[in-house]
Amino acid sequence: MSGSKINVAKQAIEYIKNNLHPEMILGIGTGSTVNFFIEQLKEYRHKFAGAVSSSDASSILLNENGIEVFNLNDVIDIAYYIDGADEVSPENCLIKGGGGAHTREKIVASASNEFICIVDQSKMVNLLGAFPLPIEVIPESRSLVARKIISMGGIPTYRTGFITDQGNHILDISNMDISNPAALEALINNIPGVVDNGIFAANKPKTVLVSK
Ligand code: A5P
Repeated sequence: MSGSKINVAKQAIEYIKNNLHPEMILGIGTGSTVNFFIEQLKEYRHKFAGAVSSSDASSILLNENGIEVFNLNDVIDIAYYIDGADEVSPENCLIKGGGGAHTREKIVASASNEFICIVDQSKMVNLLGAFPLPIEVIPESRSLVARKIISMGGIPTYRTGFITDQGNHILDISNMDISNPAALEALINNIPGVVDNGIFAANKPKTVLVSK
């Protein structure tokens, strides 16, 4: 499994390396696949300005590898956003948030010119939803959101002991019909107390690299 993740991280490096330039800012996702990408990116750190990170964990790893981390508020243009996924549909819609970082991941993805998703073959599915859908919620609204999700046919599980980088809670939803990812993404985000859910349809990747 880690061999596949290393391979696809290398594929992403090949995809971007000839376009790097000294003013370029990259967007960096979160997770074990991205961790391999960051390690590969170290070799090219003098060829671009730095990165906007989607999580505290990735920021630490970027710093450890000598890559400057910028605040999104100080950046106008992000050339590429590179991130993994938990599931990828044939239309390139995603489920993300297995690591609980999907809210900032979606923000940085939306700020980039091109989202490059890097996955191994096991993440490719015909229909999203076997992987429980993560929803970040304001802590005080957790039970309210859970009841709304049950009324929609979902089965929520509170990710106990986990706090997001923003100080919020995560509900992992199984049994959800995700046959229309764009509609469900918007519907769930309309529930008061939801910060964001892990469907990436409105901000799906332009490019999906699958480990060879
Ligand atoms: C983080 O919250 C997630 O969105 C990750 O991008 C996703 O879980 C992929 O992680 P791995 O690369 O570790 O499989």
